Amino acid sequence: MLKIIPNDAILGATIEGFDANVPMDEATFGTILAALGRYGVLRFPNQDLAPAALKAFSERFGEIQGGIGEKRKSDVPEVGVLSNVRENGELIGLPDAGQDWHTDMSYRDVMGFVNVLYGVKVPRRDGRVLGGTEFADMHAAYEGLPAEIKAKLANATVTHDFDKFWTMMVNRPGSVRKPMTPEQRAKRPPAVHPVFLTHPITGRKVLYCNPGYAMRINELPEDESAAMLDYLFAHQLRAEYRYMHSWTERDLLVWDHIGTIHQAIADYLPHEERLMLRCQVMATQVFDPAFTAPARLVSV
Ligand code: SIN
Repeated sequence: MLKIIPNDAILGATIEGFDANVPMDEATFGTILAALGRYGVLRFPNQDLAPAALKAFSERFGEIQGGIGEKRKSDVPEVGVLSNVRENGELIGLPDAGQDWHTDMSYRDVMGFVNVLYGVKVPRRDGRVLGGTEFADMHAAYEGLPAEIKAKLANATVTHDFDKFWTMMVNRPGSVRKPMTPEQRAKRPPAVHPVFLTHPITGRKVLYCNPGYAMRINELPEDESAAMLDYLFAHQLRAEYRYMHSWTERDLLVWDHIGTIHQAIADYLPHEERLMLRCQVMATQVFDPAFTAPARLVSV
């Protein structure tokens, strides 16, 4: 029997009584989808998951995005490795993934739906947990916008570009990334989405814009677009919209990319090991009413 324990925070709930190795029946999946819409970030503690089981669990939510040839060395290609751990001097995964505000796959025509992250190694110093993942609530951010901004941007669209975040990371001191090759770039052309979306599970509006990938509000002149994006980025990161997930080993975390934005906190040193396994699930199904119907029938 699932037990959903909401956090005392704007986002997040812990789900007990769940084993991610066991295929979900419809009722369980409906409850999880409904909880995802309502709480945005779901923690399933004490999971024992091999990469193949993580892939099978993640695929229930939609298709998993493939990489562009960056380091991702799990033995299951759909399962990426995010880590500063080195074996024989070589990094075993991407060490800097997500280390600034963004939402995954807003740069794709088919946007992201959820990330599924499994905590294998969590850094600690003097008993303090490091390497958290911070979230901001985009339902609340939309609701908190002034009426005139909601009206002005009601039909506006934003161009999102994968290269914006990638280049920012390349330019960080000590970066292990290189600029994308033309072949990699061809796999990640820019994409355009409405600035406000109706969330497929909640049916409520969200602000779908993020500092990591949003380049331009297409319907505004260049300078107005830049000023409006600065305004939206500052607004969506207001302290009252934020929640920090502090990891415990064997946490399985599932979060909603449409209703939240997030960043990985790089407050640990190279020898303080962090290792996460990740599946990035695309919104290949979630806008299909048949997919979200179970969630609409369940109230959590
Ligand atoms: C991500 O942005 O997908 C990674 C988040 C994290 O490692 O905490």
